[in-house]
Amino acid sequence: MSRFEDLTSQLAIPAIAAPMFLVSGVELVTACSRNGVLGTFPTLNARTTDALDQWLGEMRERLDGKPFGANLIVHKSNPRLKEDLELVVKHKVPLVITSLGAVPDLIDAVHSYGGVVLHDVIAIRHAQKAIEAGADGLIAVAAGAGGHAGTFSPFALTAEIREFFDGPLVLSGCITHGGHVLAARAMGADAAYIGSHFIAAEESMASSGQKDMMIASTAKDIVYTDKVTGVGANFMRASLEAASLPEGGHGEMQLSDEAKAWKTIWSAGHGVGATHAVRPAADICRDLIAQYSQRLEDLTS
Ligand SMILES: Cc1cc2nc3c(=O)[nH]c(=O)nc-3n(C[C@H](O)[C@H](O)[C@H](O)COP(=O)(O)O)c2cc1C
Repeated sequence: MSRFEDLTSQLAIPAIAAPMFLVSGVELVTACSRNGVLGTFPTLNARTTDALDQWLGEMRERLDGKPFGANLIVHKSNPRLKEDLELVVKHKVPLVITSLGAVPDLIDAVHSYGGVVLHDVIAIRHAQKAIEAGADGLIAVAAGAGGHAGTFSPFALTAEIREFFDGPLVLSGCITHGGHVLAARAMGADAAYIGSHFIAAEESMASSGQKDMMIASTAKDIVYTDKVTGVGANFMRASLEAASLPEGGHGEMQLSDEAKAWKTIWSAGHGVGATHAVRPAADICRDLIAQYSQRLEDLTS
């Protein structure tokens, strides 16, 4: 059994609650991981490295061996990368998700304690580089995903990745139902990656305004633009309209500017129409698990 299979075998369904800036913290991660879906968070959601040290200690203690994960932004604009990685190693975080850069030294550091590294990609070139750098697996971020989404159909992206890579593959973009998790597997992925569907969880750190907007929105209310951060991402139209963007948008941003933008301009993917209420994460996980078994039974009986 590979290290990735060892992680997914501890879940109720092959699904990961994706890391979301300013949304996922200790409460959401532990609620998901306790309820059969692997919880993750971006390390930058902890305001300082000291806070991150505490968060990771708390997650480890509360989860009592159940897997969870942390997301590291591997980019020169992230001044905390080195310190955050040291803490990830100190706390032996079972799953590490890297975004932007795939760096062999970082991957070796995570492998040194038996951790798994998945790298998220929107394009084949990035996928090939990550595998060359030694990542264990890939997260294919398809069109319609929340955050810095890709632009390719999930069918095309998974098919092209499977042409050269038969290791762990996780599919991301608009997954909001247990049946979609099953569909991801049918398409050749090993697991599903679910972001936006957890924004309105009670345990999420999103504001009540953001949660209400999730409930009020459907796919037609999502706008893909590079005007907020300089890179294409999906945002809820009403939050874009309420904010005043500089003419022509931003160029490459520093993380502090990006944080300010994400506080008022709220990202979500095309799957937003599946959010109908603020609910405990345990209920969201329970539904996903029940739907997965039901669809599997429907398809195989
Ligand atoms: C509000 C929000 C914040 C996000 N922040 C991050 C992040 O900090 N790091 C990251 O790797 N991905 C981030 N993402 C992308 C998610 O990890 C994931 O790829 C995406 O949400 C999956 O698509 P879905 O939202 O349609 O389920 C974010 C997504 C959203 C909606």
